[in-house]
Amino acid sequence: MTSDLTPIDRAKYASAHCAADFVQDGMRVGLGTGSTAAWLVRRLGARVRQEGLRIIAVPTSSRTAQLAREVGINVVSLDEARWLDLTIDGADEFDAELTLIKGGGGALLHEKIVATASDQMIVITDAAKEVKTLGAFPLPVEVVPFGWPATKALVEEVLASMDVMGRQSSLRMNGTQPYVTDEGNYILDLALGRIGNARQLSLVLNQVPGVVENGLFVDIADQVVIGHADGTVELRDLTTGTPESSVRQVDLEDARNIFSDL
Ligand code: A5P
Repeated sequence: MTSDLTPIDRAKYASAHCAADFVQDGMRVGLGTGSTAAWLVRRLGARVRQEGLRIIAVPTSSRTAQLAREVGINVVSLDEARWLDLTIDGADEFDAELTLIKGGGGALLHEKIVATASDQMIVITDAAKEVKTLGAFPLPVEVVPFGWPATKALVEEVLASMDVMGRQSSLRMNGTQPYVTDEGNYILDLALGRIGNARQLSLVLNQVPGVVENGLFVDIADQVVIGHADGTVELRDLTTGTPESSVRQVDLEDARNIFSDL
């Protein structure tokens, strides 16, 4: 089974599998969106079925909600859970301070709300997503459909005074139609190349009328679990003020059991 996986998928699996061990009985857990988060959801489902792990989970997208239900996880809304112990989610880019770009999968708004309503956020990722400077990955910005071309023009205008390299934006499409988020909004992808000051950019973008939220996660993530294709996993914890890292090994053969048990 694992031989069918690409090196990136093995790295994502290793990261998600390792992070699933942070989830304890009785926890209220936010479940991220994307391919790495999908491995996490499958692993947690296996723990629910095999170990009797009892958790209440809040998904960050309709896709994750469907998968979580399929694997036997008890899914509730954030309104019902109110506050979460832990959210585990993927990222599109992360830097040394664990500032993230998220939203490549289109779920940034719910992801940011859920992560912020959690005591802790753990990022699960493969090593290729670590960058010195954020911005090579286009920054997703969720906007309301009403007047989106005007919002796009205003966003590009404010970018002129920001510490970024590019200022082109494009409306995300789903075939011939605009991509629509779970909240019924659109997404602009900003080709910035380099983001010099993520905190300032995030604040300024959210001031533009029509912008709902942007995909920069500043001071939200606490730990990162970085997976490698050989099953090695590096953990970095920023909660102590100084980065601490440790290395673990995940058995990639366990991936087979996740599917055979479903
Ligand atoms: C979803 O909106 C994103 O924030 C994802 O967390 C991000 O795109 C990572 O996705 P993968 O795990 O599929 O790489």
